Amino acid sequence: MPQTLSVIKADIGGFVGHSSMHPEVLDYGREQVAQAVQDGLLIDGQAQACGDDMFLILSHDRGEDDETLHKFAWDTFQGGTEVARKLHLYGAGQDLLVDAFSGNIRGAGPGSAELELVERPSEPIIVFMGDKTSAGAFNLPFYKMFADPFNTAGLVIAESLHDGFAFEVHDIANNKKAVFQSPDEIYDLLVFIGSPAHYAVKRVVTRSTGEVAAVSSTDKLSLIAGRYVGKDDPTAIVRCQGNFPAVGEVLEPFSTPYIVEGFMRGSHYGPWMPVSLRDANPSRFDGPPRVVALGFQLAEGKFIGPRDMFDDPSFDNSRKEANTISDILRKHGPFEPHRLPLDEMEYTTMPVVAEKMASRWTAL
Ligand code: F6R
Ligand code: MG
Ligand code: MG
Repeated sequence: MPQTLSVIKADIGGFVGHSSMHPEVLDYGREQVAQAVQDGLLIDGQAQACGDDMFLILSHDRGEDDETLHKFAWDTFQGGTEVARKLHLYGAGQDLLVDAFSGNIRGAGPGSAELELVERPSEPIIVFMGDKTSAGAFNLPFYKMFADPFNTAGLVIAESLHDGFAFEVHDIANNKKAVFQSPDEIYDLLVFIGSPAHYAVKRVVTRSTGEVAAVSSTDKLSLIAGRYVGKDDPTAIVRCQGNFPAVGEVLEPFSTPYIVEGFMRGSHYGPWMPVSLRDANPSRFDGPPRVVALGFQLAEGKFIGPRDMFDDPSFDNSRKEANTISDILRKHGPFEPHRLPLDEMEYTTMPVVAEKMASRWTAL
């Protein structure tokens, strides 16, 4: 029987400001998950946090897009919002964009990534949790993991990976998808995924077996709400070893703090810093953006772990580099390329200022 892994996440209130999650809110999530395991809805589950977002990491046998499962996540976020309200936390219920749940969490505000698998005798997986960045942030790391032989030695020297991977790309604004084969079509693929604000890699599939190797959340909050409501703060699930990249190949892309959209007011570029759970509390200029990697071994659907994979001195240089990049970008203040281009900013005073100044502009 295939199992399903679902990671469903939302910002339901920050402590302090947008920097972190209050322990009482996280405890509430943990209690709900434990109850759902007891009730038989879940095989297993955990509630974890990165910055001000709660990530429900769930294992079950109900398949993707299951209404009962999604409703459980929705109800947990609503209950957690009540805890956040009681403590007067900041932005309580921020990502819950609809008044009532109507069958699927997609389009309701929370982000989700779901993956079906037939568990191998030993099944290592990594769940990534991002904060202060956008859907599409996993494009570059996924490309490195699954298409770049300078990152993933297995693409060259392991028979199981040598046939390459297929990338399912979503055109976020136009609700379309296309599949690109790697390595044959990498130049075409890069034309699209090199623009992560518009195109996001949803899924990566092993070409030799058809198994899903990785999946990410591509929900874009500002497109759902039609206005700024916070950052998407994406998640991803990646299977490792055997027919998939090794754990070290999956983590290696994060040794460079690639520059992503997000940071202060979701309107700046900043380096994506790989951190341990302990350091996932973005405070400087509401950033820099963070990513946590939780490693698990699955045991008949039970999560053995997590291991906090970036809690490793071998990522110290990336963190140092991220701080240096932040220092340099911060000196640009409100100038691009620290500030996002006008049409990509989540916050903008441009329409108001443009109207106020309209008569000031005269022909050259
Ligand atoms: C970015 C983020 C924060 C807020 C900023 C202003 O994803 O969440 O940088 O945008 O703290 O927050 P508000 O508008 O809630 O005062
Ligand atoms: Mg927030
Ligand atoms: Mg957040």
